[in-house]
Amino acid sequence: MSRSRPFYADHAAAYDLLITDPVEPWVDAVHDVLVRSGRHTASVLDAGCGTGRHAAALTAKGHHVDLVDAAGPLLDQAAKRCPEARRHQADLCSLDVGPAYQAVTCRGVLNDMITDAERDAVLVSLAGSLREGGLLILDVRDERGSRERADGAPRERTVELGSGKQLIFTSTVTWQAGLLRVHEQYDLLARDEPRQRSGYDFTMRPWSEAELRQRLSAAGFHDVGIGPGVGRKTADRLFVVAVRR
Ligand SMILES: C[S@@+](CC[C@H](N)C(=O)[O-])C[C@H]1O[C@@H](n2cnc3c(N)ncnc32)[C@H](O)[C@@H]1O
Repeated sequence: MSRSRPFYADHAAAYDLLITDPVEPWVDAVHDVLVRSGRHTASVLDAGCGTGRHAAALTAKGHHVDLVDAAGPLLDQAAKRCPEARRHQADLCSLDVGPAYQAVTCRGVLNDMITDAERDAVLVSLAGSLREGGLLILDVRDERGSRERADGAPRERTVELGSGKQLIFTSTVTWQAGLLRVHEQYDLLARDEPRQRSGYDFTMRPWSEAELRQRLSAAGFHDVGIGPGVGRKTADRLFVVAVRR
């Protein structure tokens, strides 16, 4: 990644204050997939683990979860939450951990891969991290639902950072030729200090079911199951399970 999103670096401490959706629906769905396939205590790699909320909850269910993320400050928080986990700071598009895992989970990450080459590379890397017959479990943005939600309306949230500090986070999303264009604005307010404003623009590329099936098959997966996202407040995500050949 050429430039780190402020949310993943400068404001990593605010990440868990802003992203407060409960972990249980995703973790329960993953656990259910693993148990139904006979893996009651699976070795799992959480690819793009962020602050490790989901990895920690999956560990508490009895699985052995390792961590990988490109963003050091987020990975540090994840490692604190999951002290037994192995951690890798790496770009998922060139990850090389060997075919060690029974499952790879990857939640809310693959939308950051924009080019065709990155999308193919990341799926090949994730396939290469799995044992034969291993499971890839994904949450991705759905193309159609994402397009409908990208209305250009600013959405604002405020979090209290303690010691009288507040972070106001505003996100504005528009749709352009298959891509989500996101403008994020961060206003940091501290008592008796001038407001510090910073902005960041980035792009995400949602996935259609057809693209998922085509690229997953090309990367060596079969038995691809695609359903609505689990535990999401909005109907713009997909829950995907695929088996490594
Ligand atoms: C939206 S967050 C999701 C975090 C976590 N999976 C969750 O659901 O809360 C996306 C995460 O993917 C990571 N990420 C994005 N692109 C990456 C890449 N190429 N290699 C490794 N990590 C990446 C980011 O650093 C961030 O932690």
